[in-house]
Amino acid sequence: MSNNALIPQSKLPALGTTIFTQMSALAQQHNAINLSQGFPDFDGPRYLQERLAFHVAQGANQYAPMTGVQALREAIADKTAELYGHKPDVNTDITVTAGATEALYAAITALVRQGDEVICFDPSYDSYAPAVELSGGVLKRIALQPPHFRVDWQQFAAQLSERTRLVILNTPHNPSATVWRKADFAALWQAIAEREIYVLSDEVYEHICFAEEGHASVLAHPQLRERAVAVSSFGKTYHMTGWKVGYCVAPAAISAELRKVHQYLTFSVNTPAQLALADMLRAEPEHYRQLPEFYRARRDVLVNALSNSKLEVLPCEGTYFLLADYSAVSDLDDVSFCQWLTKEVGVAAIPLSVFCADPFPHKLIRLCFAKQESTLLAAAERLCKL
Ligand SMILES: Cc1ncc(COP(=O)(O)O)c(C=O)c1O
Repeated sequence: MSNNALIPQSKLPALGTTIFTQMSALAQQHNAINLSQGFPDFDGPRYLQERLAFHVAQGANQYAPMTGVQALREAIADKTAELYGHKPDVNTDITVTAGATEALYAAITALVRQGDEVICFDPSYDSYAPAVELSGGVLKRIALQPPHFRVDWQQFAAQLSERTRLVILNTPHNPSATVWRKADFAALWQAIAEREIYVLSDEVYEHICFAEEGHASVLAHPQLRERAVAVSSFGKTYHMTGWKVGYCVAPAAISAELRKVHQYLTFSVNTPAQLALADMLRAEPEHYRQLPEFYRARRDVLVNALSNSKLEVLPCEGTYFLLADYSAVSDLDDVSFCQWLTKEVGVAAIPLSVFCADPFPHKLIRLCFAKQESTLLAAAERLCKL
């Protein structure tokens, strides 16, 4: 290295490569069946792909409007009205982003100031904490307990302070596969109504919900939605995680602030992909209406195939993840167990402790069932030999 080279002082010193990248690399190295990272091993709808090619050929290849193409924002507004009984304003309330990840980052950056407290529920998705830290916020994590991972609303209320600025929630929940009920949103509202606290509701699995009540969105709660950002991802809905197109819905005043961040983070999102998604939403709404059934069938294939194994499967009400308790199989901690499982058994999974800040003493792994039936059965056959 020359004397002129500089090494920056890290703004995120605790962060390394994510476990998802690590486990996928290990799976590849050992030729293991990869049930770790959350992406399908099957393709998205043909019509969506054809519309992408169509719009590229038509020359829709220049910058999209900063907030998203009009046709897509209109289709999102109509879908939201149909599902949650609230039609967001097409011009002021909907912002198309580079995946849900960008929406989460823009919302956190816009809302969290130096010293503000942010509440999240562990286990939690890994992008929240770094975004809060870069904004100078202080993350207060409430640990949820297996097998049901439900929020204790008294414990929640006790965590609130004058400095609490934002609550981040995720339903259906990755990794626990639990979903919030309407009653949870009612309890959240009761706890924060008198305070200046915003809500960031990560609903990327809104269409992958098996609960009897269906998906309870923050957008269906008349008071909460006045101070909430709801985030969704087309990557999950259309089996196209690589397209990285998502969106968020928030009242005009909040959207105006998060758009200031979005404007200088990405400015705008892939034009032909947005046009194709608008066509898809309009032409084949049955795709998202049938998605719970589509994934319920895959969940059941995996659950049934594991019924003779020593793994204890936890309830799964949503997402395309299933938790399994391996206490009857091994004494290893979950990270070591997942490494061993990949190398020796040929199945890659994600250890639950990586989603938690506090020590997580449970022996739980997360298996992704967004896979072809043959992949799931091959993985289960190996797991049944444990
Ligand atoms: C809970 C949760 N939020 C956000 C994301 C990110 O979504 P996207 O790929 O659209 O950025 C994921 C992806 O796995 C997720 O599981």
